[in-house]
Amino acid sequence: MDRLRFCLNDRWVELRDVSPTTTLLRYLRDHAHLTGTKEGCAEGDCGACTVAVLETIDGKAQYRAINSCLLLLPMIQGKRVYTVEALKDASGYHLVQHALADELGSQCGYCTPGVVMAMFEACYGEGFKEPWELDAAMCGNLCRCTGYRPIREATAKVAGLRPVDRFTRTLHEAKPEPMALAYDATSQRFCTPATLNELWDVLDANPNARFVNGGTDLSLEITKRYAEPQMLVSLEGVPDLKQFDFNSPAVRIGAAVDLSTLEFASKPVPMLERMLRYFGARQVKNRATVGGNLCNASPIGDLPPVFLALDATFVLLSRAGERRVKASDFFVAYRKTALAPKEILARVEFAPPGKDVRATSYKVSKRRELDISCVSAAFAVELDGENVRSARLAYGGMAATPARAKQAEAALVGKPWTQANVDAAAKLLDADFKPLSDHRGSAPYRMLVAKNLLRGFFEETRTAPQPRLPHPHTATVQAGAPARSP
Ligand code: FES
Ligand code: FES
Repeated sequence: MDRLRFCLNDRWVELRDVSPTTTLLRYLRDHAHLTGTKEGCAEGDCGACTVAVLETIDGKAQYRAINSCLLLLPMIQGKRVYTVEALKDASGYHLVQHALADELGSQCGYCTPGVVMAMFEACYGEGFKEPWELDAAMCGNLCRCTGYRPIREATAKVAGLRPVDRFTRTLHEAKPEPMALAYDATSQRFCTPATLNELWDVLDANPNARFVNGGTDLSLEITKRYAEPQMLVSLEGVPDLKQFDFNSPAVRIGAAVDLSTLEFASKPVPMLERMLRYFGARQVKNRATVGGNLCNASPIGDLPPVFLALDATFVLLSRAGERRVKASDFFVAYRKTALAPKEILARVEFAPPGKDVRATSYKVSKRRELDISCVSAAFAVELDGENVRSARLAYGGMAATPARAKQAEAALVGKPWTQANVDAAAKLLDADFKPLSDHRGSAPYRMLVAKNLLRGFFEETRTAPQPRLPHPHTATVQAGAPARSP
C-alpha cells in the first residue's frame, strides 16, 4: 500500500492513516495548523481556501491557484503545495502582499489570504495581454466588502512579473514527481493509475469504482453531503488523456484536459472559447476537466451544447478497444451516458467550423458568470450563398439531456438565412422541447429565452460570423483605468 506524499511549503509530508477523502483544506487547518487558509463556502465558490499547487501543464511548470476545499489529499500526490504562510520570508512580505496593501485592497481576514494566493498565481503566470485575463485571474475570490477595484489594480501591478526569487527558482528547477498511487485507509481506496493498462487492471478488480478527475463536482458530495466513497479511481495520472491538438484539421481534446488549459488553447474555435469564459472561476477551471463536464451528463452542463453544435465525436475507450459515438448519441437519459461499465471517455474530436459557418454559444443564468445555467445554447449554421446548407441548434436546460432542436433545424435547411425564417424556426422550439420549471427558471421563461437566443444569434452573426466574447464582459473596471481620486 502506498503512502500519501506531497510537499507542503517546501517540506515533504508523508501520511498513512488519513482517509483518502480528506480535503486538503481540512488537512491544512486541522492537522498542519496552517490556519491562514480559510473555509468560507466549502464548495468552490468563494476562494477563501485558495492555495497554489505547482503543476506541469503541456510540459510547462506553473503555479495554479486551486480551491483546497475541493482537493482530496491523493490529488496532490507528488506535488508541491504553497499556502499563504509560505509567502513571507526573512526579507519580509512577498510582493503580492505589498501590492495588495499598497493599493488598499486588503479585505476581511477570511477573504484576503485567498485573494493573495490568486494574485500569486497571476504573479508567476504568463500572458495578461488582454484585460479579461486579469478579471479571469481574480474572479474566483468573492465578497469584496471594500471594492474590487483596488484588488484589480494590485493584481495588474504584479501579474506576469515572475520576480527572481525562490518561487521562480522552484518553477524552473523542481522536477515533476509521479502521481501514481494505490492508497487504502479507513476502509476506503483511492487509485491513480499511470497508464491505460494499469487503469484497465484496476477496473477489472473494482468494476464498481467511481471515476474522478478534477473533483470539482464529486468533492461536493463529500463536503456537503458527507459522502464517503469507498473506491475512487482518478484519471489524472494517465498522460494519454491529457493530450490536445488545435492545429490539425480535426481538433482533438483529451478528456482529462483541464478547462483553464482548454480556455487558452481554444482561440481557434471562438464558440468554445466563449463558453469557457462564462464557465467558472479560475480556481475551478484549473481543476475541472472536459471529461468531467461531459460525463456527469447534467442537462445544464455547459460544454455539451457546444460539442453538439460542432457535431463532435466522442472517443470511448476500454480494454476491448475504441468506440466512436456522436455527441448526439452520448447523452441517453437524465444524467446517463452511452458509456458501458469499465469504459471511459478518452477524447473529443471535431472539425472546426469553416468560413461559411455562423457559430456561437450562449449561457443564461441568474448571475452573468460563475453560475449554473438556466438555459445554454450553441448554434452552428452553414450557409451556401444565401441558403442554409445545414443547421445544428443545441440547447442545455430545455430537456432531461442536452439536446438538439431537430424540428427547428429542419425548418431552416434549404431556406434563405433571413429574419423571417429564423422567427419561423424559433416557433418550432415549442415542438422540440417541453422544459421544466424549477428555481432557476419557469418553463415559459426558458422557452422564451431559447427562442430569443436563436433570434439574437441571427442578429449577432450578421457582422461577425463567429464572434468572440467582447471585453469587458464583466462589471469590473479596465486595466489602465485612470487612478481613483484620493
Ligand atoms: Fe469557498 Fe473553498 S471555501 S472556495
Ligand atoms: Fe471578506 Fe467581504 S466577507 S471581503
